[in-house]
Amino acid sequence: AQNTCILQVVKPRLNACFYTSVTTLERVSVAGKDYDCDEWTNITPKILSYVGRNLHTQKDHPIYIVKEVNLPLFAVFDNLSPVVTVKQNFDSLLTPKDHVSRNRSENYYINKNTVLRAHTSAHEHELIRSGLSAFLMVGDVYRRDTIDATHFPVFHQLEGVRLFNSQQVKKRNYLFQLFSKCEGNTADLTLFENGQETADKQMCHTLETSKLLEFNLKQTIEDFTSLMFKTKLPPLNLNTDVECKWVEAYFPFTHPSFELEIKYNGEWIEMLGCGILKQQILNEAGACDQVAWAFGLGLERLSMKLFDIPDIRYMWTTDDSFLSQFKNHEDFKSIQFKPILSKQPAVANDIAFWIPNDYAMNDFYDLVRSVDDGLVQTVTLVDTFVHSESGKQSHCYRIYYRHTSRALTQAEVNNLHNRIKDAAESQLNVKGR
Ligand code: DAH
Repeated sequence: AQNTCILQVVKPRLNACFYTSVTTLERVSVAGKDYDCDEWTNITPKILSYVGRNLHTQKDHPIYIVKEVNLPLFAVFDNLSPVVTVKQNFDSLLTPKDHVSRNRSENYYINKNTVLRAHTSAHEHELIRSGLSAFLMVGDVYRRDTIDATHFPVFHQLEGVRLFNSQQVKKRNYLFQLFSKCEGNTADLTLFENGQETADKQMCHTLETSKLLEFNLKQTIEDFTSLMFKTKLPPLNLNTDVECKWVEAYFPFTHPSFELEIKYNGEWIEMLGCGILKQQILNEAGACDQVAWAFGLGLERLSMKLFDIPDIRYMWTTDDSFLSQFKNHEDFKSIQFKPILSKQPAVANDIAFWIPNDYAMNDFYDLVRSVDDGLVQTVTLVDTFVHSESGKQSHCYRIYYRHTSRALTQAEVNNLHNRIKDAAESQLNVKGR
């Protein structure tokens, strides 16, 4: 339901700051539950307003449409809470303690032990532990990030995990035996060995295990991708082939790891990460006689590419001229999105300030997002400068103002620009230049 998440000031401290964070609050209420705040707290009221919107369960929303294209065999979980522990989001996935992905500048922390999940992988451990062999998770994920047409601090992922066992494990379904499709005598093939880690495999996996898992993983994803794109009906979309490529990748929880990139508006963008799940994760989740692959797919990118949606902010509009375009389409491939975006060019305005030592660019981006009411499309750092005597650094950002569905007046742009300036000075401890 909308607005299930309210920011509640249980016990305000002095100077409660409502733009940038709720660090000045004692407690915060997220999705109906109260949490203690501490020095890690950095969620903003704006971000909290997205919790509970659940675009992925809203019928006929473009995110809902793409997640409905399910894989057979897989159990689907689409209502796991986005509030997770640091243990779920990082430790259970073997993320090193000093890994940058844990930084406060990258995530929305509720407190030092609790975070809005940064990926659906956060639930892998608990679902493997529950004994499932093939499952999908769909949900909203939260990351502090730059501001442009393809980035929004909340997006949606579809995560898939598939476990396999050896022939020896009779109690399990034949479908989940890794060597079941191999020809010839497979009795001697084993899942595990005490060997060496190489670029192709983990220490405890045989090369056959790793290669078969990789093959099955890539095949599953390629089948899914062509199911999504290949038969998009002409003449609605004449360019029926989507350009994709596999690239090597690194994730703390898989080895080997891969990324699938697709071409979007002439640029290669990462659509999906995947790999062979590290055996330690399976062992810790009580599945030590099994092996697995996993993938995590960004639903906004897929959906924007599929329907030619030019700006990620459309996903969050409640404007019927957007949503009505996706209504009652039995066949999603016949949808050809017509942007409501005015032909007006974006209005660019610069803002420059001296930054303090503890400044992170994502602090500024969050501040802009908090003050903005749908006008800002892109923010780019256009210049940095170090004062030769004082050693002080300054940043200059260019803010592009462009609404997704109407023209802007110079007056409203100026008004917002000034409010951003004032908020930056009063809340980020920066000094205007
Ligand atoms: N969680 C990763 C991310 O959000 C994506 C990912 C990579 C998911 C590899 C996986 C995986 O399941 O195996 O960037």
